[in-house]
Amino acid sequence: MAEKLATSTQFPPHVLLFPFPFQGHITPMLHLAELLSLGGLHVTFINTVHNHKRLLSNADFRSHFSRRYTGFRFESISDGLPDDQPRSEEKRLLDVHASLRASAKPALKELISSGGVASGGRGAVSCVIADGILGFVREVAEDLGIPVIYFRTVCASAVWTFFSIPNLIQAKELPFQGNDLDKPVGSVEGMEDFLRRGDLPSFCRVDDLSAPSFQFVLSETRHPKTIGLILNTFEDLEKPMLDHIRARVPNLYAIGPFHAHLRAKLEAQSIKQYINLQEEEDRSCMEWLDRQPDKSVIYVSLGSLITVSRETLTELWHGLLNSGQRFLWVIRRGSVTDDDGGEKFVAEIKEKITKTTAYIVGWAPQKEALSHRAVGGFLTHSGWNSTLESIICGVPMICWPHFADQPVNARMVETVWKLGVTIKSSCDRVDIEKKIRDLMEVRKDEFLERAEKMANLAKQSVSKGGSSWCYLDRLIKDISCMAAQKSI
Ligand code: UDX
Repeated sequence: MAEKLATSTQFPPHVLLFPFPFQGHITPMLHLAELLSLGGLHVTFINTVHNHKRLLSNADFRSHFSRRYTGFRFESISDGLPDDQPRSEEKRLLDVHASLRASAKPALKELISSGGVASGGRGAVSCVIADGILGFVREVAEDLGIPVIYFRTVCASAVWTFFSIPNLIQAKELPFQGNDLDKPVGSVEGMEDFLRRGDLPSFCRVDDLSAPSFQFVLSETRHPKTIGLILNTFEDLEKPMLDHIRARVPNLYAIGPFHAHLRAKLEAQSIKQYINLQEEEDRSCMEWLDRQPDKSVIYVSLGSLITVSRETLTELWHGLLNSGQRFLWVIRRGSVTDDDGGEKFVAEIKEKITKTTAYIVGWAPQKEALSHRAVGGFLTHSGWNSTLESIICGVPMICWPHFADQPVNARMVETVWKLGVTIKSSCDRVDIEKKIRDLMEVRKDEFLERAEKMANLAKQSVSKGGSSWCYLDRLIKDISCMAAQKSI
């Protein structure tokens, strides 16, 4: 039975956000939380204890939130895993999810129903924004009679492929018969002309639909009974797919790119400082970029989760060298398997590069690097945050998708938006060199021209009166209406 909570109109509407505890989910959700706070809402942001400790160790983070936002509060809940267990790897997704469900679900219910989050000049929670792969957060909110809006960290096109999984099963396109990943797929409406098996979310590559990873995706991505869905995308980029989703979800808020939207809102309030909330960055690469010619550097990064073998990185290394281009390469600590996390590999190749043509860091200020005049291309794993960051900076991409939504993102970049090229996961140094030359030399002008046009549309969407700006206003109004209705 629903436990109705008292609300009061004397406080601003109060929204609670709960991201899946991976970096690629926390960062956009935090940007969303800041946008809502700047819009006048009270915000509670739930972190796992493990991640919150990491964020608190960042002095910028502490001062940013304590100085800027009133009515913004962090709460932390255990993910149920031992302190020393590694978490941020693609292969740990299901374990982290299962442990979180078992441990955080009761803790979240207790936190909200005890009134703890509503104390100290804040009203009861009027709306919960749940990460789109955290069904248990919706279950808690429903039990407590609180409306839920989902936030998916992936693009509209990827959401639409997830929504289409039942159609794929019904049409017997899933599970795949045979190993041909290039075979066209016909049951994702609107994508019939370009989608292939290998472009579907990687979880679809199973022989048996009862596989835990497939069942996880099937159950977590349906979003039953949701009243709304927030996406980190913009209308001009994904209108056809957004229209398909609109037919299924009553309220769709396409308010991205979040990071640029947040920057625009802060600037509108004459607030200059915009901090990066991620890992420790090596900013020396920005000085290195300052010394490079315009559009001459390819920026290389595979995001925050992927691990690759030493052998694969060796192919990438030779592909980069043989292309003759300058490059800035992020090799994240712990991202190289069959090595001591990458330290040996990095030490070896650092000995071989000359700093005039290449630079290697463990973590870069990526958004700044992509907006630097010297960067002319991005070799990316096609994570959605990275893709959007590249789009708004007008940087063409070489997509090297590995898992989850990344194959769909790469297909959209190459075939629909025509903002880059793709390399297959099984590629070698020769393929990599060829694609880099295509992007940085052979088709350079063509790609740069299209990328600049799309970047302008992205910037317009988050400017006053732009589509993302207006959707955000509507989201804030809708949440305020929910709060008002609860208090009647
Ligand atoms: C994951 C999935 O890979 C992605 O497909 C999904 O959409 C979200 O979750 P992740 O692998 O971390 O995310 O990739 P991505 O979404 O691209 O996010 C990486 C973030 O790390 C970006 O915001 C990027 O700016 C940041 N980053 C990366 C840095 O700030 N510095 C770096 O050196 C590398």
